[in-house]
Amino acid sequence: MSDSINVLLVGGGGREHALAWKLAQSPRLGDLWITHPTNPGLAAIAGPDRTLPVPLDLREKRRLVHFCEKKNIALVVFGPEDPLAAGFADVLAAPGRAVFGPGADGARLEADKAWAKHLMRTASIPTAEARTFKDPDAARAYIESREVSHVIKASGLARGKGVIVPDSIDEALDAIDRIMVERAFGSAGDTIIIEERLDGPEVSVFALTDGRAITILETCQDHKRLGEGDTGPNTGGMGAFCPSPLVDAQLMQTIEREILVPTVDALRRDGIDYRGVLYLGLMLTHAGPKVLEYNVRFGDPECQALMPRLDADLLEIMLATAHRRLADIDVAWKPGATCCVVLAAEGYPGTPRKGDPIEGIDTAEAMENVHVFHAGTIRDKAGRIVTNGGRVLSVVACGGDLAEARETAYRAADLIRFEGKVVRRDIASAAVAAAT
Ligand code: AMP
Ligand code: GLY
Repeated sequence: MSDSINVLLVGGGGREHALAWKLAQSPRLGDLWITHPTNPGLAAIAGPDRTLPVPLDLREKRRLVHFCEKKNIALVVFGPEDPLAAGFADVLAAPGRAVFGPGADGARLEADKAWAKHLMRTASIPTAEARTFKDPDAARAYIESREVSHVIKASGLARGKGVIVPDSIDEALDAIDRIMVERAFGSAGDTIIIEERLDGPEVSVFALTDGRAITILETCQDHKRLGEGDTGPNTGGMGAFCPSPLVDAQLMQTIEREILVPTVDALRRDGIDYRGVLYLGLMLTHAGPKVLEYNVRFGDPECQALMPRLDADLLEIMLATAHRRLADIDVAWKPGATCCVVLAAEGYPGTPRKGDPIEGIDTAEAMENVHVFHAGTIRDKAGRIVTNGGRVLSVVACGGDLAEARETAYRAADLIRFEGKVVRRDIASAAVAAAT
């Protein structure tokens, strides 16, 4: 059991940099192979010759499997959902090679929201009332016949942009046209869900499951809107903090009993062998916690806030999940809190400006209790780190409490400079204010 383990980590954002950073602390990690060597953070951990030389493409199935065999990869870890939905976990799992992340059948929880709704309904899992439509005329007629507020969702994967919360019937009708007629998200919008609009604060609950055992991780909250005070367009997440003060032990028991356990049971009943992260996007309504969405991966940037708090060997945890030994291991957490501030590029979540040199990363990283995770960055020809995407960096700080973590995170974030830097100044501020 003490042999070293070679790992292939799929994905190239801030979430994957945080996973790689934590995996690298494991005494059992052998070679870490990555798929995205242009991320300077990932490249620094994996080393110069550790890039998957085969395109991550199902047409290259044989070469991918052959590569994993040749390099003795014993664990494949998936960061993002798309390769899981495409079935890469199914292709790469083999005797002697474990996979952290569900197969295409389990990934439907995220990739097929209509199916996920059906699963929730049959398992009596609390979620918003919803109807599914394949025909835009029927969807329009439904909206026009109702007074209440709705949320409109493309059923398939739409890079976090497929959910529209309209302010009027006209906006709702527009959303239907954009998704179903103009096909803004391609085939992801062939089916839409029109859902009752719920109200309440949102939390992210992460659990690991090996298909039987469930290990609940620390809770997080993220800030999805671009602007301060939760205004402006939805983004992938402008910041996060951990733990969430909104979920106490009693509420977590309810979430476990009413949502997590029935979800894992329902998957198993459907013959789905799910091993990986189950991420619940929850709204805490007056009627109790309700599921807004399932994801089959860690959140980004929640993962960046979560990993520095983990006081356990991530490699062992992932292996135990993939080998169905989760019940045998303990997952411990460091006390205190973390706060993650995302530095974005001007233009995000639309088309971000790129190529701006970034200064101050080293100074920020040199601060005690601070970690800087790379997402939209790249080295230019001169070797300088420049911006290369919408969410550029995640700056994470640990503190004795959330106020301290927040204060340190912003001090570190302010040391990093690039043209067009966009930062929300109110990450975790409501939670800090509520605590004092
Ligand atoms: P999702 O990708 O499903 O989490 O949706 C993105 C965001 O849309 C969520 O974080 C919520 O803020 C909002 N949202 C989704 N579903 C609902 C709902 N049923 N009621 C109110 N807001 C929702
Ligand atoms: N931060 C939200 C997500 O990863 O979906």
